Amino acid sequence: MRVTVLNGVNLDVVGRRNPEVYGGLNIRELESRIFEWAMELELNVTCRQTNSEGEYVDWCHEALDWADGVVVNPGAWTHYSYAIRDALELFEVPIVEVHLSNIDQREDWRSKSVISDLAAKRVIGKGPEGYREALAYLAKNE
Ligand code: DQA
Repeated sequence: MRVTVLNGVNLDVVGRRNPEVYGGLNIRELESRIFEWAMELELNVTCRQTNSEGEYVDWCHEALDWADGVVVNPGAWTHYSYAIRDALELFEVPIVEVHLSNIDQREDWRSKSVISDLAAKRVIGKGPEGYREALAYLAKNE
């Protein structure tokens, strides 16, 4: 099963950005964990991160051709990007929405996700482990 993990805006600075909120792993360490979990689950995973909304949309379009499952953490775009929502809407494979922090228990504006209804599963506030849960869900529902 081929899975794409797409991390969005400001996820490149996790580790030094509010570690008490997002945890202490940097993006490379986070991606290493994701690859380890993917191996355990026998998933073929690619991880990408960008701060460019257009690039994120392009990567969604590319993944339409090959991905059997999608894990997305669009960062702040989650709360307002209809462009990313429109791109995600094209997927016919399961989407899992992940957030390191508990967006429902922070500022009011963070509790709104414009993609939540497109997600087969949401994992919120579990830190890096959330990605493991997302991958395990996709592996199980293959
Ligand atoms: C985030 C939560 C968002 O509100 C925030 O803008 C992020 C990261 C998370 O993983 O907790 O950049 O998606």
